[in-house]
Amino acid sequence: MGKANYYDNIAHLYDQTRWLTESVAEEVADFILELVDATPETSFLEPGVGTGLNVLPLVRRGYCVTGIDVSQEMLDQFSQKLHEIPQNLKLIHADASQLPFTNQSFDVVLTVHMIHAVANWQTFLDEIERVLKPQGFYLNAQWITPPARMEFEYYFRAILSKYEVEQASERVNTAIEEINVENYLQSKGYRSNYMIAKEWIVSNTVEELLSFFKSRAYGLCWRMSDEVFHHVMDDFSEFCVKHYGLLGTELSSEAKFEIWMYTAS
Ligand SMILES: C[S@@+](CC[C@H](N)C(=O)[O-])C[C@H]1O[C@@H](n2cnc3c(N)ncnc32)[C@H](O)[C@@H]1O
Repeated sequence: MGKANYYDNIAHLYDQTRWLTESVAEEVADFILELVDATPETSFLEPGVGTGLNVLPLVRRGYCVTGIDVSQEMLDQFSQKLHEIPQNLKLIHADASQLPFTNQSFDVVLTVHMIHAVANWQTFLDEIERVLKPQGFYLNAQWITPPARMEFEYYFRAILSKYEVEQASERVNTAIEEINVENYLQSKGYRSNYMIAKEWIVSNTVEELLSFFKSRAYGLCWRMSDEVFHHVMDDFSEFCVKHYGLLGTELSSEAKFEIWMYTAS
């Protein structure tokens, strides 16, 4: 299983096993820039920036972007997308639980698929509030798993559950349901708006999806021994052959880039 932060292990696979393409990210960037009424001076922070899928278009357009991540390998993947790190991009290798910035440093803070990863999500939101400028925007976003991939994952989980009998203490992401960003920020006086920045179709063959799972690209594959994982994958591969027939079967469905925008009232 390797390194302490699992993202270090899968950084090289991250983009190809997710479904946000560069062209979709460009359109999402258009949406965000309009949403926050950006000027050339608008500054962005993405804690848990990973390989930069969300903010690379902003960097390329010259906006000041700061990204923080605990995984150096994820940050390296981001850097490799650029010939050299431009002056408008700062990448910081650190735990984002405590943001290493003075108060009121950024116009926009963006988080995508990361709040569940910090030690204390309320403290983390307090930190975001601290580093945001008074008229700033906090955008908590997700690109939700397209239904066809969700169904595929559901079948995987069903097989996994047979093995989790011995592993009850190792369930993944149990805390996600307890996180309620909206309630927390509303109780602090923030207004929230929900919007869909972009919808697009994602297609993969069963074979591709199986190979993504085999490479342990997703959190639900991480917290078990190699031996158990090997058994799970054997069962799952067998299931896929029976269920889908041809592994070349294409699974297509719609993905969404959702944003919850928070502004101080
Ligand atoms: C699911 S990935 C999301 C990456 C990126 N935001 C995206 O949407 O593609 C979660 C990222 O958060 C990072 N991460 C997890 N906990 C963190 C923490 N406490 N501080 C900073 N980064 C963290 C991981 O290393 C990983 O790169």
